[in-house]
Amino acid sequence: MNAKKAAADKAVELIQDGMTVGLGTGSTAYWAIHRIAERMKEEGLQLQAVSSSKNSEQLANQLGIPIIPFSAVETIDITIDGADEVDGESSLIKGGGGALLREKIIASNSKEFVVIVDESKLVETLGKFPLPIEIVPFAAELTIRRLEQLGCRPVVRMADESTFITDNGNWIVDCHFDEIKRPGELGERIKTIPGVVEHGLFVQMASTIVVGHLDGTTTVR
Ligand code: 5RP
Repeated sequence: MNAKKAAADKAVELIQDGMTVGLGTGSTAYWAIHRIAERMKEEGLQLQAVSSSKNSEQLANQLGIPIIPFSAVETIDITIDGADEVDGESSLIKGGGGALLREKIIASNSKEFVVIVDESKLVETLGKFPLPIEIVPFAAELTIRRLEQLGCRPVVRMADESTFITDNGNWIVDCHFDEIKRPGELGERIKTIPGVVEHGLFVQMASTIVVGHLDGTTTVR
């Protein structure tokens, strides 16, 4: 059984008719988007959605999920998205797919932010997964030097031979810390660096974590 799909299917049960839904990005969110489309067909649910990436928007369009522009959004009832790491206090590292800025905007404007992960994403302390940080390309070398001074090894993300470009036209720097003991504090320090647009630490934002296991069961916390 696919543990990511199990978590996604469970989370999508929380969606009710008439809701505006935030769509996440990545291979776990992929399953959630599929399940949302299935429920719309099977149960006649009327939903509208906003998307955290061009990829997820394209998938939603293919599956017939109506995407509305952000200017038309009044409330986002629920957002369902994946994560790269989840610690015991439900703080997250996100941005493995490079969509962290839009993901954070959507999550922070949602009444409910439901995180879907397979059990391999659960950690005691964040930081084994390199922390993705979105920066503007202007004077990137200077911004990267400032990130290095925080005690990490920064690596500019590449896609094939070129610099990876986010949906917002920015770069991602993957910062290798090994261990992030105080994610809230680190997040605040990162945000003070000019040139940083957003970072992938999502501290105390998740309302629910749905963990999928290999046997197809889920744990909700
Ligand atoms: C994209 C993300 C993803 O949610 C995160 O990388 C998890 O991805 P996956 O579900 O493919 O393991 O933050 O920016």
